This record gives sequence, structure tokens and C-alpha cells, in this order.
Amino acid sequence: MPKTLLVALLALSTACSTGKIGGDSGTVGSDGGATGSDGGGDGGSATAEDWCGVLSIINSQCLSCHSAGARLGDLDLETDPHGTLVSGASSYPGRTLVVPGNSAESFLVIKLEGTQAAGEGDSMPPGSPLSSADIDVVRTWIDNGASDSCSGGGDTGATGTYHPDGYADPTVHGMEAKLHEQTCTDCHGADLAGAGDVPSCDTCHDDGWRTNCTFCHGGIEDSTGAPPEDIDDGTSDAAFGAHPRHVQTNTHAAFDCTQCHVKPTDVLSSGHLFDSTAAQAEVDFSSSLSSRASWSSGAMSCSNLYCHGNGRADNGSVSISDAPLSCHSCHPDASSSSSTISSMSGAHRKHVVSEGVRCEACHADTIDASNTVIGPALHVNGTPDVAISSDYPSISYRSSSNSCTGNCHGEGHENENWYDDR
Ligand code: HEC
Ligand code: HEC
Ligand code: HEC
Ligand code: HEC
Ligand code: HEC
Ligand code: HEC
Ligand code: HEC
Repeated sequence: MPKTLLVALLALSTACSTGKIGGDSGTVGSDGGATGSDGGGDGGSATAEDWCGVLSIINSQCLSCHSAGARLGDLDLETDPHGTLVSGASSYPGRTLVVPGNSAESFLVIKLEGTQAAGEGDSMPPGSPLSSADIDVVRTWIDNGASDSCSGGGDTGATGTYHPDGYADPTVHGMEAKLHEQTCTDCHGADLAGAGDVPSCDTCHDDGWRTNCTFCHGGIEDSTGAPPEDIDDGTSDAAFGAHPRHVQTNTHAAFDCTQCHVKPTDVLSSGHLFDSTAAQAEVDFSSSLSSRASWSSGAMSCSNLYCHGNGRADNGSVSISDAPLSCHSCHPDASSSSSTISSMSGAHRKHVVSEGVRCEACHADTIDASNTVIGPALHVNGTPDVAISSDYPSISYRSSSNSCTGNCHGEGHENENWYDDR
């Protein structure tokens, strides 16, 4: 990144955090909670044992039933979760959801532990209890006074906010997001548009960033979003160096990402950034011409490929370390021996070897007489394209029946089938 741009970005991020987030009435981090000081009693702990930790649990485990839209048990933990819980009345008589300083008396904890009395409903979440570590986060938060401040997590304690100082720097929070070191959607909302006191990513980012495919990767060789520029911002394209050769027009049409991946439409698309495999791109050939292929990331090679095969089966394989491909790397070409050409379909051997007919004579829309690909859209498109050269005006080919009509150098081809005429 040019230095001037970086300076401009840092200036922008500073402007954002002071002008928008910092100015946001200080709801997060400036609460006069029981501990009364930044850092709280649990400062330095590795997990967020504070309101942010609780919010993260609620956002990921409870909103499916307790959102503003789905208020099961008449409990909305989305609109104002802190206000609803702390000293909030339960629908069960005599119960208080959260009693600050007393987790044992807090009905929230009782429901999480499943120690509620008969007639007080199920344990929460029904059927899939929280881990004891998560319940501890809730207990510790209540016993520390149940404030709405966030001081745990990776914070240095200096500002009393959830994230450490300097987190607004794109190289810090952007990289953490891309490497999925935290699940940002847990706290910043399922659509990253903010949740409760936690700001929206759009506070600083330009509109459309979620669907801008070069925002996080790619953008150097072309605008498709394919590397180089890997997700760690490296430009060596260590993940798969052959991206440009595939996603740009070559001896074939430019391939879409769908040849090798499920193509996301948005940062939030399932299987994309916030999936269960942090920082690992998934290769998926199911919508590919090579739908039976497999990729080995260790060897950096592919096998059972149609695309690198001989045009007759899913029989190709290729490795990232292979020498540059020539016209006979995948199927025989004009320079191949007659025995190799015999491995081609139907009457190839008869025409090419016995009669000396050029490849271009029958594939005139794909290649020219010097075997240069002139019709990349027809090459490696899933089907052999036959087009008889204008040098043979009296011959025509019907692909539906693989048969020819007409005359060639005096020999009648009436209804001759490519596969019968060996
Ligand atoms: C699958 C749906 C579902 C999920 C997920 C769920 N709940 Fe509930 N919750 C309910 C239903 C239904 C009730 C009302 C019946 C009951 O009390 O068991 C309820 C009731 C409650 C109550 C009692 C409300 C009162 O008036 O006292 C609390 C507290 C609660 N849930 C907390 C949670 C928390 C915290 C989570 C996440 C950790 C959670 N729930 C996840 C369905 C769910
Ligand atoms: C305080 C301002 C601010 C907030 C809030 C913010 N960002 Fe950023 N982020 C930036 C700036 C500035 C950039 C540089 C690019 C730009 O100008 O949009 C950036 C860049 C990024 C990048 C690209 C990094 C790269 O090197 O490719 C990612 C990913 C990212 N942010 C994720 C997020 C997510 C996810 C959120 C919300 C959870 C978020 N950001 C919230 C300021 C912010
Ligand atoms: C446990 C909850 C939680 C998680 C997880 C979380 N954030 Fe935040 N984030 C917050 C809160 C709360 C704030 C408000 C300011 C603060 O407390 O630091 C915030 C503020 C921010 C800001 C504004 C800069 C600042 O320091 O004020 C950025 C940028 C940001 N988050 C990015 C991210 C990204 C990117 C992720 C995922 C990698 C993420 N956050 C995950 C809670 C969270
Ligand atoms: C010919 C197959 C192929 C095509 C087409 C392809 N990719 Fe990939 N891509 C791969 C392989 C293989 C990997 C490496 C997977 C691994 O790490 O195991 C990869 C990895 C990636 C990564 C992760 C890079 C990293 O830093 O780990 C991104 C991002 C990516 N591809 C984006 C794209 C986009 C966007 C397109 C379409 C414009 C595209 N790819 C088209 C094969 C392909
Ligand atoms: C906020 C950052 C971000 C944006 C914006 C983004 N991506 Fe990605 N993309 C990633 C990360 C990180 C990965 C690495 C894979 C992972 O973590 O699962 C990835 C991986 C991919 C892959 C490899 C397959 C996979 O999902 O693992 C493709 C293809 C891809 N992205 C295409 C796109 C397209 C198309 C767009 C625009 C609609 C886009 N990306 C926008 C961050 C982003
Ligand atoms: C990466 C493997 C690969 C390489 C390299 C390759 N081809 Fe092909 N070629 C194929 C496949 C697969 C087919 C099967 C038909 C299809 O899908 O187009 C094919 C088909 C053809 C056809 C039949 C006509 C057609 O449109 O399908 C001709 C002619 C041809 N290739 C010529 C060439 C020439 C000339 C070169 C070198 C410039 C070349 N090929 C390099 C894979 C390759
Ligand atoms: C006399 C006409 C003719 C000539 C000459 C010819 N082909 Fe073909 N080729 C065909 C026909 C017809 C098919 C289609 C078979 C089908 O659709 O099943 C075909 C199919 C192919 C395929 C797909 C795989 C296969 O074996 O069917 C490739 C690759 C190919 N040709 C390359 C070449 C190359 C390279 C040359 C020159 C060495 C050549 N062809 C010369 C008529 C010809």
C-alpha cells in the first residue's frame, strides 16, 4: 500500500473513532458500574468476563428465540439487553432476572444452570446448555456488579473499552477479521450493522464494502477478487499461484470462481469469511466442468480433472510445480506420435495420421492453421467443438449424430459416423 494512502486511512480511522464511536455518548465503557474504574476487578483476564462477554453469548446463543421479532417467553434480549436483564422482572412470580452482585439469586443464572423449580419452564437454551465456561462469564459479570462496561478481552485497560488501543487501525482489526480470530458478528450484529452498544462496521466503512470483492483479497492482476493478494495481504499468492491464469482469458474463456469454489455474494454469505474453518478457503468443484475433481492443498495439486484431461473423461491431473503446459499436456496435438494420436476418439488417427489432415480442418472455430487458439470460448468449455474449415466446402458435420455428409478429396462421407469410421 502506498505510504500516503496508509496515512490517509489512519487519519480517517482516527476521525471515525473520535467523531463517531468516541462521541457516541460513551455508553460502552463509561458506565459508572459497581467497580467504578476502568479495568474492573477482572482486568487482564484472557476472556471477556464483562458485559461484552455476556453480550457475545446472548448474540450467538439466545437471539434465535429472544430477539425483538421472536420474543419467546416474552423476553427480548436484542433491543435493550442490559436494561431488560439487570433488575428486570421475570414472568415467574418472585423472580428477578439479574440481581447485581448476586449471581445465585439471579433467575438468568438459575435458568442457565437448569436449577429452576417445577413450573418455572425449561433450562436455557432448551436442550443445549451453555458450556460451564460461558455460564461462568455470566456469573462473574453479575457478581462484579453487572455493569454495562467492557473491560476484559484483549484490552490493555487503558481506555476501558473491549478492544485494545489502536484496534481501529485497518491492519489490526481488518487482519483479525480476515483471519477470523474473533467472530465479529457475535457482538457487531449478525449483519455487522451494530447491536446494542456495539458500533456498526459501517460507522467507518464505505457503503457497499460487504459486496466489494477486492476489499479484502485480490485486485492486483484483475478486478475479480482472485489473488494475488491473499487474505493475509501477501502478494506472492502462496495459496494458489495459478489464479490469474484461470480467472483471466487465456487459451480458454475466463473461468468464474464457481469452477473451484462456492462463490459468495457478500462477506456474510455462508461458507465465506465467518464459517467454521477460520482463514481457510474452501475448494468446491461441485458446479465445475471438473465436478469429480479433488484438490490436495498439501501437494498443491488437482486430480480427476476434466479440464486438464484428454477431452474424453475426467482423467487429468496437474500440480502447481508442473512446467508450463503445452498443447499436448492434456491431449495429443499435431506434434504427437501416431500411437498417441490413436488414443484420441473415433477417426482422429485415420485423418491425422493416415491422411495428414490438419487439426484446424475440423476445429476451425477453435484454432487456426498454426494451432493457435482463436476461439478461447470454445476451448475447455465442456464439449469438443467441431467446425469444418472453409477449405472443405463440400463437407458438413452434424454434432447431434457425430456424422459427416459430403465429399472430401473424392471420398464420399455420406452419413459416416466418427466412431464407426476408424
Ligand atoms: C429454542 C428457543 C430458545 C432459546 C435458544 C433460548 N430460549 Fe430462553 N426461553 C425460551 C422459551 C420458550 C421460554 C419461556 C418458557 C421457559 O421459561 O422455559 C424462555 C424463557 C427464558 C427465560 C425466563 C424468562 C422469564 O420471564 O423469567 C430466560 C431468563 C431465558 N429464557 C434466557 C435465555 C438465554 C440467556 C438464552 C441463551 C443463552 C436463551 N434463553 C435461549 C426459548 C429459548
Ligand atoms: C473506527 C473505524 C472502523 C470501524 C468501526 C471498522 N473499520 Fe474496518 N477498516 C477501517 C478503515 C479505515 C479501513 C481501510 C479501508 C477503508 O478505507 O475502508 C478498514 C479496513 C477493513 C478491512 C480490510 C483490511 C485489509 O487489509 O484487507 C476489514 C476486513 C475490516 N476493515 C473489517 C471490519 C469489520 C468486520 C468491522 C466491524 C466489526 C470494521 N472493520 C469496523 C476502519 C474501521
Ligand atoms: C465480545 C464483543 C466483540 C467482538 C467479538 C468484536 N467486537 Fe468490535 N467492538 C466491540 C465493542 C463493545 C466496541 C466499542 C468500543 C470498544 O469497546 O472497544 C467495538 C468496537 C470496534 C471497533 C471500533 C474501534 C474501537 O476500538 O473503538 C472496531 C474497528 C471493531 N470493533 C472491529 C471488530 C472486528 C473486526 C471484530 C472481529 C474480528 C470485532 N470487532 C469483534 C465488541 C466486540
Ligand atoms: C482453477 C481453480 C480456481 C479458480 C477458478 C478460483 N480459485 Fe480461488 N483458490 C483455488 C485454490 C486451489 C485455492 C487454495 C485453497 C487452499 O488453500 O487449500 C484458492 C484460494 C482462494 C482464496 C484464499 C487465498 C488465501 O489467502 O488463502 C481466495 C480469496 C480465492 N481463492 C478467491 C477466488 C476468487 C475470488 C475466484 C474467482 C474470481 C477464484 N478464487 C477462482 C482455486 C481456484
Ligand atoms: C471483509 C473481507 C472480505 C470480502 C469483502 C470478501 N471476501 Fe472473499 N474471502 C475473505 C476471506 C477472509 C476468505 C478466506 C476464506 C475463509 O475464511 O473461509 C475469503 C475467501 C473467498 C473465496 C474462496 C472460497 C471460500 O469462501 O473459502 C472466494 C471464492 C471469495 N472469497 C470470493 C469473494 C467474492 C466473490 C467477494 C465479493 C462478493 C468477496 N469474496 C468479498 C474475505 C472477504
Ligand atoms: C489444460 C489442458 C489443455 C491444454 C493445455 C490444451 N487443451 Fe485443448 N482441450 C482440452 C480439453 C479438456 C478439450 C476437450 C473439449 C473442450 O472442453 O473444449 C480440448 C479440446 C481441444 C480441441 C478440440 C476443439 C474444441 O473446441 O474442443 C482442440 C483443437 C484443442 N483442444 C487444441 C489445443 C491447442 C492448440 C492447445 C495449445 C495451444 C491446447 N488445446 C491446449 C484441454 C487442453
Ligand atoms: C477429420 C476431422 C478431425 C480432425 C482432423 C481432428 N479432429 Fe479432433 N475431433 C473431431 C471430432 C468429430 C471430434 C468430436 C468427437 C465427439 O464429439 O464425440 C473431435 C474431438 C476432439 C477432442 C476431444 C477429445 C477426443 O479425443 O474426442 C480433442 C482434444 C480434439 N478433437 C483435438 C484435435 C487435435 C489436437 C487434432 C489434430 C491433431 C484434431 N482434433 C484433429 C474431428 C477432428
